[in-house]
Amino acid sequence: MTFRIRHEHIPADGTASLSIALLSDLHVWTGARLLDRLDGHLREDPPDVVALTGDLFDVPAGARLVASFLRTIGMRHPVVFVLGNHDRFWGRRYWEPLASIPGCHFLSQKPFQLATPAGGLFEFVDLSRPGGRLDPRTVRIGLAHSPEKIPSHGFPEVRLALAGHLHGGQFVFWTDRHGSLYPGSFAYRHLADRKRLGTTQLVVSRGLGDTLPLRWNCPREVVRIRLGG
Ligand SMILES: [Fe+2]
Repeated sequence: MTFRIRHEHIPADGTASLSIALLSDLHVWTGARLLDRLDGHLREDPPDVVALTGDLFDVPAGARLVASFLRTIGMRHPVVFVLGNHDRFWGRRYWEPLASIPGCHFLSQKPFQLATPAGGLFEFVDLSRPGGRLDPRTVRIGLAHSPEKIPSHGFPEVRLALAGHLHGGQFVFWTDRHGSLYPGSFAYRHLADRKRLGTTQLVVSRGLGDTLPLRWNCPREVVRIRLGG
């Protein structure tokens, strides 16, 4: 199970820098190999925060493996997450334990505030509840499973939006000058690696796993984002 590391830099005036590792659509079944490799990557190059945008597991055994992965990485980095449609498929008893793992913050229950040693103030939210006005010193970062739920004008108080779900379309035959990936972009309006939506910068992960593991010209990926700095 291999993945590429994609680097994105999001400039933000006057903001202390923040390093985010975006992991999405792990779709874990019964094997821990992907999780072990991700753990190794995060140890080698530790981010300030790990963001997971859902579809973490496909079956109950996968939910247990993901819980153990989160217990391990939650001891080293703050973890923020939202769930995807696959995580909810088996019912609450499988995803609920993830919400009480130390160091892991389920944003659909509560936003998470992070103050970095360099003096940055950040608030992570679930984009289905993007929140109201914000203290101007705080930078708000929103997570959604599907980028399709994010309006084309973005959210005025959200600087950075992170999402997954679309798996890059799994087959990429061409990319247009705006960065939209085809043929999937015929069906989805936000199928691109990054996209400007008003004052919100959207970054979409192509994911780390698939229920139907067929891809062409669409690598699985960890997205490493540097915001500000
Ligand atoms: Fe997915």
